[in-house]
Amino acid sequence: MDLIKIVVALIIAFTPLSVAAQRIAIMGAMDQEISLLQEAMTNQKRIQRGGVDFYKGKIGKQKVILLKAGVGKVNAAYSTAVLTQNFNISSLIFTGVAGGLHPEIMAGDIVIGENLLQYDFGSLNEKNFELWPFYKIEGGRHEAPHIEADSNLLALSLKASEMVEFSPVIKRPPRIFSGTISTGDLFISNKEKANYLYSEYNSLATEMEGAAVAHICRSLDIPFVVLRSCSDNAQGEALVSFTSFVGPASENSALLVLGILELME
Ligand code: ADE
Repeated sequence: MDLIKIVVALIIAFTPLSVAAQRIAIMGAMDQEISLLQEAMTNQKRIQRGGVDFYKGKIGKQKVILLKAGVGKVNAAYSTAVLTQNFNISSLIFTGVAGGLHPEIMAGDIVIGENLLQYDFGSLNEKNFELWPFYKIEGGRHEAPHIEADSNLLALSLKASEMVEFSPVIKRPPRIFSGTISTGDLFISNKEKANYLYSEYNSLATEMEGAAVAHICRSLDIPFVVLRSCSDNAQGEALVSFTSFVGPASENSALLVLGILELME
């Protein structure tokens, strides 16, 4: 029996990634953001790589790999790198909460990221901040700061958002928005900064991981989409609102992921 286990482990260890079954990667930053998806998984197996916990299994008919990336751009980029170097990924869906920036967005509303940008990447002189386009890992830079999500995943997300039964947050069902999401290493509870991100970059929501994940996916040609349900509006009371709504908002974003997986071939 032990010998069989050793042989199976050796075969798995030496199977090239390209031969392993392709999986849809689903990522959140915090436990609350992935817990509903973990509950929905069957044939679940926990695998640790590089200090990151991965959950391999199925959701419905889809083969998936679920992980918690950790909070902030560094953790998110690291976890995405470990993910892509250890598993054969067909696409990546990021799910979680954000601070809403659009004046009509309320806690519970959902933003589907058409594109992402790192609002804290650039140069600052005595007078101005200049946002830089994102840099290629191998050197050189892209034209724009925006990293575009995959058009098929975007279309599926919008279609799923019309079919999913979301839970009401603040007594009304979530409204769906799609547009730019701004990422930076700040939890924002500052009206001036929130207004700036909306007016300067037309960002609908702000969070701390999306553009870092998008950057790695873009570099490796992995189709991705980032889904965010708003827990707060990034202004003075953001932390109080976040604490109240991180649970229900995370669940609605995860429900959208379940809807997308159901629609996938
Ligand atoms: N995630 C949820 N709310 C946020 C906020 N206000 N700023 C940054 N990330 C967030």
